[in-house]
Amino acid sequence: MKTMKNIAVLVSGGGTNLQALIDAEKSGLIKNGKITCVISSKADAYALERAKQNGIKTKVIARKDHPDVAAYTKAVTDSLIEEKADLVVYAGFMTILDEQIVKAFPYKMINVHPALIPSFCGKGFYGLHVHEAVLKKGVKVTGATVHFVTEVCDGGPIILQDTVQVLDSDTPEILQKRVMENVEWKLLPKAVSLFCEDRITVKDGRTYIK
Ligand code: GAR
Repeated sequence: MKTMKNIAVLVSGGGTNLQALIDAEKSGLIKNGKITCVISSKADAYALERAKQNGIKTKVIARKDHPDVAAYTKAVTDSLIEEKADLVVYAGFMTILDEQIVKAFPYKMINVHPALIPSFCGKGFYGLHVHEAVLKKGVKVTGATVHFVTEVCDGGPIILQDTVQVLDSDTPEILQKRVMENVEWKLLPKAVSLFCEDRITVKDGRTYIK
């Protein structure tokens, strides 16, 4: 019998991806893992309410209370170590962290990004901005990516990806909703479960799923 993995979730906003993880855990879709802690970079993130409503421990580590990225990263990293996190999930976490956390949790952190990496990703591509850029470019297909977090922003090994169509009538908000509902909320819990079941391996910058 494998030991249950402790899942810590980092959030900054509404927390619909956190909700998808909570729902998946409740319905038994996350094998061998339990959400034990939610850490927010913002005190007023609605994601914190979602965690509390489900009896999950919450912490606020606000970026504005720390002088620089290094101090902020240390605070988040120390907290995750204290919580004995086996997996760290970035679920709409909008604050930049440095390599300290990558060294502490190598290939133990996963992020959901609302586009098909390597398109529309990297610095400045977050939240609605991603969908604005997708519409501006006029691509006909977009989607979301779940990947390991490394020191390269949105550059770590890709675990899962799936697509949606872009429609002429789309606004950034409508497209964001389609990407979330059809891809993010499904792929993130799936990737978390695969990780917790030790089914993902990384070789030469690629992942392989058993
Ligand atoms: C999601 O679309 C997520 O993919 C995106 O922000 C949204 C958060 O929503 N993340 C990024 O852009 C990170 N680069 P949520 O708080 O409702 O889960």
